[in-house]
Amino acid sequence: MSTAKLVLNGKEYEYPVFEGSENEVAIDFTKLRAQTGAIAYDPGYGNTGSCTSTITYIDGDAGILRYRGYPIEQLATQSTFTEVCYLLINGRLPNADELDKFNQRLNKHTLVHEDMKKLFEGYPPSAHPMAIMSAMVISLSAYHPDLLDPEIIDSNIMRLLAKFKTLAAFTYKKSVGQPYVYPRADLNYAEDFLHMMFATPTQPYQVNPVVAKALDLLLILHADHEQNCSTSTVRMVGSSQANVFASVAAGVNALWGPLHGGANQEVIMMLEDIQRDGGDVQKYVGMAKDKNSNFRLMGFGHRVYKNFDPRAKILKKAADDVLHALNVSDPLLDIARGLEEAALHDEYFVERKLYPNVDFYSGIIYRALGIPTQMFTVMFALGRLPGWIAQWKEMHNDSATRINRPRQIYTGEAVRDYTSIDQR
Ligand code: CMC
Repeated sequence: MSTAKLVLNGKEYEYPVFEGSENEVAIDFTKLRAQTGAIAYDPGYGNTGSCTSTITYIDGDAGILRYRGYPIEQLATQSTFTEVCYLLINGRLPNADELDKFNQRLNKHTLVHEDMKKLFEGYPPSAHPMAIMSAMVISLSAYHPDLLDPEIIDSNIMRLLAKFKTLAAFTYKKSVGQPYVYPRADLNYAEDFLHMMFATPTQPYQVNPVVAKALDLLLILHADHEQNCSTSTVRMVGSSQANVFASVAAGVNALWGPLHGGANQEVIMMLEDIQRDGGDVQKYVGMAKDKNSNFRLMGFGHRVYKNFDPRAKILKKAADDVLHALNVSDPLLDIARGLEEAALHDEYFVERKLYPNVDFYSGIIYRALGIPTQMFTVMFALGRLPGWIAQWKEMHNDSATRINRPRQIYTGEAVRDYTSIDQR
């Protein structure tokens, strides 16, 4: 095994170096503090590996994303979302019988406890659906045993996967003041979600295969993305041995931020602003470059991808295909294309390797499917759910897991004496 040498205050230390299955190199600093008294300072964790994982592989320079070794491009065209859920959570593709049983188990768990409907009643109709979703996910642990027994964990994982879509659709129904629609076992995952979103007591939902397929694709593309902010949050919370509902609820909160999953809603709001403002994309590229403005091109840039985001590539084409198949014309798509073109030819964006990410075109497709803007980040969460679960399970079963507890460098006041209030 090779080692890395560190010289600190004239003394030399040696640390093991190990490689991942794709030859990614890590220096094992687990003994750094014990041996040297120093810590590794890495705000934003851009250089820190918090775990080893067998779930997802990303090569940001080459634009590669694989779940359990399978390229995202193949899964996007040949798989289904529930098959991808099985793959992420169980580590391998299911055979036909296993997938059938998995789907049956999901169908069995789609109903939520009737009392949970009362929880929705307490929220104002204007509440952001992500606020409600986070509360509903943690509330599941009040209705189901939260013991860390392997069989209960397995049931809770299925419950969470099945009920999340029911809760997501109920959240939408709450916002528009319509009665909740119960799930249907004869529909697949995406179709059932669309049915619960759009059926009303007077009008059943007619499955549109183009819409259902497009939604399934979006869910597959969002299903996992290794140690991003929300997934690391799930692992962080889970490392204290909090149950899967508590850990995933924390992931929902982390996803909500505009720099993470909240970006898909922000992209559409930005495109609408550009449209209202006359469609001058150069003006907005200029604003994004201006360090005195807080404006950023939402849906652009990524911590890991530095050439292109393979999900964005698939979604750009899907946006064209879906809008064409549904005979929808959306002026925001033209603005998005124009903005992308302008940014990709601008030195600022080229220099910093800023490309459209998964959130740039996804909103245009959600709009075409009839999903309201406020629900976009919930859609991201629905897709990311199997990834959060798989990562939680892997963390939970890994004997190397310790409670996550980063260190800090204190830069505050040195010790000083307390003074009474009249002396300050
Ligand atoms: N518009 C304008 N400038 C940008 C942008 C942007 N969207 N993104 C990064 N930059 C600049 C940034 O100002 C910095 O410039 P400088 O070197 O002159 O200071 C440089 O590029 C590096 O940016 P950073 O903020 O250090 O990069 P990061 O890795 O910390 O942040 C990011 C990554 C995704 C948060 C950031 O690119 C961003 O804010 N993008 C917009 C929000 C967005 O679309 N988020 C969705 C991410 S993909 C879905 C997901 O997984 O959540």
